[in-house]
Amino acid sequence: MASARLHFLFQLLLLFILLINHSVKCDDEEENLFQGINSYRTSLNLSSLTKNDNAACLAEEVADQFKKQPCTNTTGSNTVPGTEPQFSNYPDLLDKCHLNITNTRDGVILPACVPNLDPSLVLSNFTESLYSGYLNDSTYTGAGIGSEDNWIVVILSTNTSGGSFVTAESDAATLILKIELVYLLLILVFFL
Ligand SMILES: *[C@@H]1O[C@H](CO)[C@@H](O)[C@H](O)[C@H]1NC(C)=O
Ligand SMILES: *[C@@H]1O[C@H](CO)[C@@H](O)[C@H](O)[C@H]1NC(C)=O
Ligand SMILES: *[C@@H]1O[C@H](CO)[C@@H](O)[C@H](O)[C@H]1NC(C)=O
Ligand SMILES: *[C@@H]1O[C@H](CO)[C@@H](O)[C@H](O)[C@H]1NC(C)=O
Ligand SMILES: *[C@@H]1O[C@H](CO)[C@@H](O)[C@H](O)[C@H]1NC(C)=O
Ligand SMILES: *[C@@H]1O[C@H](CO)[C@@H](O)[C@H](O)[C@H]1NC(C)=O
Repeated sequence: MASARLHFLFQLLLLFILLINHSVKCDDEEENLFQGINSYRTSLNLSSLTKNDNAACLAEEVADQFKKQPCTNTTGSNTVPGTEPQFSNYPDLLDKCHLNITNTRDGVILPACVPNLDPSLVLSNFTESLYSGYLNDSTYTGAGIGSEDNWIVVILSTNTSGGSFVTAESDAATLILKIELVYLLLILVFFL
């Protein structure tokens, strides 16, 4: 019994470490790109983009779909941007992030494949490509970034209802996440 508990605790800790490692690693590259895009916006006298967590959720899902594809001539910022990538399961991706197409269709999804997500190449793939035409557009007021392997995806949102990426569930979801974290902490305290 005791060893089963210990085993469970060990797995839980491992999971935490994995999760923390994963998010820190990705956050670095994503944060870099976010800052870089805002510097670019500032240099054009445009307002900075604010972080849009729901767009970031979708960006993460889209990056996850791309991740098995290697970088080629037709990937990277040569990928034709669109409001809906050609995934047959796109509705499922929206669903996972509790999003409805009615308030995501004015946003734009910009994927890029860059080996090892080299920071300067990542930034130039957005600011020195066709994508710059979206980044320099004052229509867009927010951004969410997600990455997986060599893929990094920026999703731009607007402050209008068609591109807000607002979810009815987002508040409820954060609440559930908070409750789950407290629950996990209680389990940890109990076992330690
Ligand atoms: C930005 O604004 C400043 C001051 O208003 C102006 O001098 C500069 O030319 C503008 N730059 C661009 C790229 O519009
Ligand atoms: C990549 O692009 C180069 C030059 O544009 C071309 O010569 C080459 O055939 C392309 N490779 C593929 C796999 O499309
Ligand atoms: C999205 O929202 C519209 C309008 O609020 C609603 O009619 C539609 O059923 C929703 N779609 C999904 C998949 O939830
Ligand atoms: C984009 O990244 C690719 C690597 O995937 C690199 O070869 C290319 O030069 C970059 N393009 C720009 C405009 O920075
Ligand atoms: C925005 O970028 C596009 C494409 O690079 C360019 O044609 C356009 O002149 C730029 N507009 C501004 C305001 O910088
Ligand atoms: C939306 O963003 C634009 C451009 O930044 C700004 O001019 C406008 O006031 C904003 N509207 C709302 C409702 O926040």
